Amino acid sequence: MEVYTWSPEETKILGEKIAKNLKKGDIVGFIGCLGSGKTTLIKGIVKFLTGKEAISPSFVIIREYEGKIPVYHFDLYRLNDEKELETIGWEDYLERGIILIEWAEKIKNCLPEKTIFVEISIEGRDKRKFTILTPESRKFKI
Ligand SMILES: Nc1ncnc2c1ncn2[C@@H]1O[C@H](COP(=O)(O)OP(=O)(O)OP(=O)(O)O)[C@@H](O)[C@H]1O
Ligand SMILES: [Mg+2]
Repeated sequence: MEVYTWSPEETKILGEKIAKNLKKGDIVGFIGCLGSGKTTLIKGIVKFLTGKEAISPSFVIIREYEGKIPVYHFDLYRLNDEKELETIGWEDYLERGIILIEWAEKIKNCLPEKTIFVEISIEGRDKRKFTILTPESRKFKI
């Protein structure tokens, strides 16, 4: 599924729509270059699910937002390789809540088949294209 937005505000609204489709145990990987809008989209998702204001966890790698379902926001920009992932004990987080991962391509081999991917590309100054890829068994309503 492809969706376009023309402003950060619109992207946050798209995040809320994506969030409505998510449930405990879901893993969503966000793939897109620097400044494409990964964090902006995640802000919309986190706001809908927890009422909290997400900020980029770049320096801490993982940020947790408490809510009815906890949300774990990973930013793997500074991760060197998949081995490093083990050192942060990331498997402990799976199934505990909803996992949102920026730079998910860095750990693609470690992600389960059920992982949902959102690929983002910059189409113009404020125009972004979001390609939402869900497993066969999951249909998203946007
Ligand atoms: N339609 C849009 N959707 C989202 N962001 C947009 C849009 N148009 C312009 N922008 C701008 O693009 C930037 C997106 O930044 P954001 O931090 O969300 O990207 P990111 O992919 O998380 O970057 P990073 O790789 O540094 O983590 C912001 O400066 C925002 O204002
Ligand atoms: Mg970001």
